[in-house]
Amino acid sequence: LTTSSAQPASNISSCLLSNGVRNFSLPESPSYATLLNSSIQNLRFALPNVSKPAAVVIPSSKVDLQRAILCARDSSLAIRVRSGGHSYEGLSYTTENHVSFVVVDLMNLNRVQVDMVSNTAWVESGATLGELYHAIGQSNMSLAFPAGSCSTVGIGGIVSGGGFGLISRKFALAADNVLDAILIDSNGNALDRGSMGGDVFWAIRGGGGGSWGVVYAWKLRLVHVPHNITVFSLGRTGTVKHIAKLMHKWQFVGPYLPDEFYLSIYIPTGTSNGNVSMSFTGQVLGPKQYAMSVLHHTFPELGLAESDLSEMSWIESIAKFAGLSSVDDLSHRWLGAKQYSKSKSDYVRSPISMQGTINIIKYLSNGPQGSIQLDPYDGAMARIESSKIPFPHRAGNLYSIQYGVSWHALDNGQAEKYIGWLRSFYAYMAPYVSKNPRAAYVNYLDLDLGTNNWMNATNGTSNGSVIHARSWGRSYFLKNFDRLARAKAKIDPTNVFNNAQSIPPLQY
Ligand code: FDA
Repeated sequence: LTTSSAQPASNISSCLLSNGVRNFSLPESPSYATLLNSSIQNLRFALPNVSKPAAVVIPSSKVDLQRAILCARDSSLAIRVRSGGHSYEGLSYTTENHVSFVVVDLMNLNRVQVDMVSNTAWVESGATLGELYHAIGQSNMSLAFPAGSCSTVGIGGIVSGGGFGLISRKFALAADNVLDAILIDSNGNALDRGSMGGDVFWAIRGGGGGSWGVVYAWKLRLVHVPHNITVFSLGRTGTVKHIAKLMHKWQFVGPYLPDEFYLSIYIPTGTSNGNVSMSFTGQVLGPKQYAMSVLHHTFPELGLAESDLSEMSWIESIAKFAGLSSVDDLSHRWLGAKQYSKSKSDYVRSPISMQGTINIIKYLSNGPQGSIQLDPYDGAMARIESSKIPFPHRAGNLYSIQYGVSWHALDNGQAEKYIGWLRSFYAYMAPYVSKNPRAAYVNYLDLDLGTNNWMNATNGTSNGSVIHARSWGRSYFLKNFDRLARAKAKIDPTNVFNNAQSIPPLQY
């Protein structure tokens, strides 16, 4: 790296230019706001009062990326790495306490190379899920990858935190299917699985983004799916009691179905004519007849009819569930409506009683602009040890709950009302969900659980910060938290890669 010593923040541009990195934008550039806002998914963090970066750097190669990291450090700027920009708390493009920072946006590092001999893919981290799925579908209609359903989510963030998708009951998480990775560390070194060492390779597969360095690319194991699979979306409307009965019964079905089945529930807040609505999303890795016979037998209350079911290829189902009109739309990374939102998550380990589900549906029906999504676990998810990778929510978890509220710009004056309602609903749910600690999914990031305070000297890189971070770190990682803090000390002992909920280094 060509550099002058200790450049001030304003010198990031001369450092980048003198090192051949040309694609970046400064606050005074006409392109700055467009680039910065391009992938901000949660508009709460696009508001004028939110801290803005000293530069947005868009590396075009691994070397550019390495130089961007070094120039940011040389200019004493904090680093925020962004792949798809879907962080629920905006951690890829904001800082706390007005710390000056640079956004390193990986949008141009989005190449996907599928190897049909080994059924693997090398994917640059800036690719979206849609771009990955599209490339897989172009290569072989019988190959797939288990990750999320929203096509604009970035590979960099989702794989770093786990990555649950519709075929995870069969093939586990995205992070469970990582075979290798290239990590750029805080000194700009590019490390592969061998050179980063076992503890760090363990940590980057589910330990959350933003703590370890920048994952430049992942090597993924692709999985085989049938040529045709079955999908359905079912809406149901009825009294609180009727909807509660369906939810209650689902708890004894969704997590226990064969691994080929995914059957989730979505329940929005509000009522219409006194009735509540819910919807089921189903995907079965098999033909219609198989789906019908199993669901008829296990869940007759669902009232599934053969006409509700469609057969299609896995890649077509991905486009359908992403709400896209064609498979080719998967490769368009800027699709999708943006909104103001706040989310939280839980895990359920024992079925909620019938009375409990009635109470929950009643509470929901009185809420503003929100929803819950219940995702069934078990299957392959439960057969993997809780310590295999940092994501610990394995055997014993029946399903996850994702709570959300969202609103539009016109309603911004009501933001605190919506978020306040979400927090009180979450408090209300405490008796029904996992305890000691109350678990959460790191990809559904929630700063209400607690935050680092790097400005406090006793809470900097000392072990005091680890004790502080354990309070929420154990919610995300259970017993894996301390191992993560030790891995952090190995790869980034001076805590260059930090954010409000990053893993602090445990010095020992
Ligand atoms: P973003 O770019 O904001 O990054 C998120 C975090 O990872 C930040 O801390 C960032 O610094 C860090 N990071 C990003 N790239 C990195 C890299 N290359 N190396 C190191 N750190 C990096 N989850 C799920 O499991 N299943 C699902 O189906 C969905 N669906 C879904 C839909 C929608 C609309 C949203 C908004 C979110 C989801 N999620 C999800 C949650 C999603 O997995 C989570 O928000 C991811 O962190 C998003 O990754 P991005 O790269 O898009 O975010």
